[in-house]
Amino acid sequence: MDKKYINVGLIGYGTVGKGVVKILEENKKIALRKVGKPIKVKSICDLYPIDRPELYVKKFRDIIKDPEIDLVVELIGGYEPARTIIIEALKAGKNVVTANKAVLAKYWDQIFTTAQEYQKSIYYEASVGGVIPVVQGLSEGLASEEILEIKGILNGTTNFILSEMTKNGVEYGEALKGAQKAGFAEADPSFDVNGIDTANKLAILASLAWGGWVKVKDIAVKGIADLDIDDVMISKEFGYDIKLIGSAQKTKNGIDLSVQPCLVNHENVFATVENEYNAVMIKGKASGDVLFYGKGAGQLPAASAVVSDIINLSKFIVTNTAGIVPDVVYNRKTRLKILPSGKSKAPYYLRFSVVDKPGVLSKISGILGKYKVSIASLSQPDMNEDGITQIVVTTHETSRGNLEKALKQIDATKSIVKSKTVKIKIEM
Ligand code: HSE
Repeated sequence: MDKKYINVGLIGYGTVGKGVVKILEENKKIALRKVGKPIKVKSICDLYPIDRPELYVKKFRDIIKDPEIDLVVELIGGYEPARTIIIEALKAGKNVVTANKAVLAKYWDQIFTTAQEYQKSIYYEASVGGVIPVVQGLSEGLASEEILEIKGILNGTTNFILSEMTKNGVEYGEALKGAQKAGFAEADPSFDVNGIDTANKLAILASLAWGGWVKVKDIAVKGIADLDIDDVMISKEFGYDIKLIGSAQKTKNGIDLSVQPCLVNHENVFATVENEYNAVMIKGKASGDVLFYGKGAGQLPAASAVVSDIINLSKFIVTNTAGIVPDVVYNRKTRLKILPSGKSKAPYYLRFSVVDKPGVLSKISGILGKYKVSIASLSQPDMNEDGITQIVVTTHETSRGNLEKALKQIDATKSIVKSKTVKIKIEM
């Protein structure tokens, strides 16, 4: 390649975009040493004029159609026009770097089929786990492995909120404001708190691990928006923290996929993951557990992962080899078997709000027994208010479907149950 520079076109100059320009400038010697050619941001596209008018272009197609640009960096987030930008860039012969988990999870098939067809590369390390090199770790570091399980705290915003609630007793709303202020949350934070952001990231990791396309709709998703501070405090007394965990496990009946708040024992490694930090545990058949840990959200951690992608991809651009071997081994004919969520098995924490009178406990335990839900422990915290008390039960491993049927019947017994029973998975 006889070009003097690797020319980058940046689309989206928000928090992460600004961080990318900053790191590329500060670390230009490091990049030069690794790539052999300087990396230059040639153009930046954004909706509004920016602080670097000499680089500013208004239309993203001015970047995609610029024959001098080698690499398009998409950092606008969301589905459209991000999908159009990525697809048009690949078709125009550009290599692409993106941090956009939503667009990847939703258009995995179209994006990677197009990349293969046009023999271009798309790198997306920042889309999962911020700065943590888990995409590269899974696809390259663990290339030899039969992956059995992926489990992780994959959203910085919710982990920050849960940490604030657990450690400092901060109200949910206040904690969310703190996460937004620190720049961790999505433009629409409901994606964070409803578990969708975690599901997007889990879908990406699972698709990578098993070579097909795991869709967000294959994942049973529950977020933290309706989590009650009482359950945070009660479980803390029991020796647990509550964490939002994305989990994908290979079982003989299909891949068991879920995103849900979980109780993790204080000794569990996930309990030590606090604030905006993320952690991903990947279990390979030969490797056993491999743990990835680092900052999962925030301007510079995300921008660092984007710049690493730019550098790594530039090495192939310099040698004209980018995209010749597909980065993601994906064949649209691969069909993955997904376990129906009702068949998923785990122990659970249950909190019943019931009237405090004789016979209530036996009624509840009778219904649980009828659906083969076995009780492991039972207690009645001192929380009696207006004749309503709380009964906390932990179960042995039970099928989610059976448990849901039992709770439906219990909650329908309005003479004893006063509000919807809380059910939280206990992470093993
Ligand atoms: N909103 C995301 C999070 C940003 O909180 O983890 C990183 O993907």
